Amino acid sequence: MAMWRPAERIKHVAQAGRWPSREQARQALLFQPLALGRNGHCLLNERTWVPAMVPWRATEDGVVTSDVLDWYRRFAEGRPGAIVVEATGIRDIPSGPLLRIGHDRFIPGLKELTRAARQASGGYTRLFIQIIDFLSIRRRPQRDRYLSEFLRVTQRHRDQLGIARSVPEAEARAALLSLSDEELIKTLDEREWEALQLGARERVTDTHLPHIRDLPEKLPGLFADAAERAREAGFDGVELHYAHAYTMASFLSALNTREDGYGGGLEERARLPGEVFQAVRDRVGDDYVAGCRMLTEDCLNGGMETGEAAWFAAHLAGLGMDFISLSRGGKFEDAKQPKVGWAAYPYTGPSGYECMPSYYSDARGPFGRNLEPAAEVRAAVRAAGLDTPTVAVGGIHNFEQAESVLARGEGDIAGLARQALADPDWFEKVRAGRGNQVRLCLYTNYCEALDQRHRQVTCELWDRENLQEEGIALSRDGKRRLIAPRWRNQRS
Ligand SMILES: Cc1cc2nc3c(=O)[nH]c(=O)nc-3n(C[C@H](O)[C@H](O)[C@H](O)COP(=O)(O)O)c2cc1C
Ligand code: SF4
Repeated sequence: MAMWRPAERIKHVAQAGRWPSREQARQALLFQPLALGRNGHCLLNERTWVPAMVPWRATEDGVVTSDVLDWYRRFAEGRPGAIVVEATGIRDIPSGPLLRIGHDRFIPGLKELTRAARQASGGYTRLFIQIIDFLSIRRRPQRDRYLSEFLRVTQRHRDQLGIARSVPEAEARAALLSLSDEELIKTLDEREWEALQLGARERVTDTHLPHIRDLPEKLPGLFADAAERAREAGFDGVELHYAHAYTMASFLSALNTREDGYGGGLEERARLPGEVFQAVRDRVGDDYVAGCRMLTEDCLNGGMETGEAAWFAAHLAGLGMDFISLSRGGKFEDAKQPKVGWAAYPYTGPSGYECMPSYYSDARGPFGRNLEPAAEVRAAVRAAGLDTPTVAVGGIHNFEQAESVLARGEGDIAGLARQALADPDWFEKVRAGRGNQVRLCLYTNYCEALDQRHRQVTCELWDRENLQEEGIALSRDGKRRLIAPRWRNQRS
């Protein structure tokens, strides 16, 4: 499914800018160390960061594979300051090929992952893991099957159809099936119509469902268990996923109108994210890094705005978060209608565009769209008297941009996601004064389209190159290599 794009369709091209010499790089803000954690116990060797990116390489049971190891080894060879391992599910439930950490049986695989990545960076790169909870979303059903099987026939439907309670359900379903869409939309309620058009999606406000009502009771323990396993597996810390379309971001969102003390006002919306963090902190202790990824804005009508995000960030930093990584948008509410048999995807609407903007854009362009709001959020944390580091991301691809993020106080750490996928050696090349050898990301979102279809994520700049290379793993269809070729000039 094509992603949403701004109407202006102005084409923007990533620029190399001026690359530093080796000596200039050594003195750059970007390559100065930064101590993370309450006692500064976790030293980032530099202020560069590869944010979480799901490559769809785990088994159907969520277990680390040799392809997962290769993927993180390859990023670690470029030796960024930190790598955040992809969104990893905290529950012990089937989640497709998404990594999981919801049971102790996942620890050995994750241990292998940290060992492989640590070895590949020579111990230089810190390793964090993003831990996530998400609610259920179903695929868009076929109309006939939805009306004849999935829909629960209620008295409301019978009343709308003028069918008595005594009439068998099969007849009521037959009547529903015979309706035109115009008639059907009046007969179904809003959520039923949505389930038919988009696939049923749970919300944190569905407190009539016991498992949704009980989220505040369940999630602190689940996140704390996952964090403990992350520590056991050798990660340097955890990133609580409080961003995008998932459970915790939905608690922070202005769309959270829960009336049980966990929604409505700012303090109520922040309550569960705070309690989850406290549970994690209590479990892993002060000497373990625990931070979060959150949004600077929902980028939705009626969603969370930057002023609110700034308040949340200061609040969470005040509770003792060790870092705050800032993303934007990526919500379900404005996602495109999926094809029948597919689930809605949160990066297909305008808020999705804000999260991963591509090269066709408006006048603001895809580079640094999140920097101004990120600066505002960081300023609120500083105004609260806290020096919690923040991570800024979004279209960062050249040295000058990354350096200016730090110089202008838009963030304390520069995160490069797609640019690191395009060229995992970006960090090594820039440090070595060889920035002119960087392959710049095209921001076409070829990788994102693969991600959307849950296909193994690769980059178009290198996935057809040297497919004959000995020992190289290929995609399931055999057409693409799964990791970037080695940089031949490495450390020459
Ligand atoms: C293939 C792919 C997978 C991603 N997976 C995640 C994820 O698991 N968790 C997350 O918080 N963000 C995820 N993102 C978003 C990135 O971390 C990042 O915020 C976004 O791409 C914008 O940064 P960039 O312009 O440097 O790419 C993903 C992005 C891509 C391209
Ligand atoms: S496929 Fe490669 S070049 Fe294209 S947007 Fe993704 S990382 Fe950038």
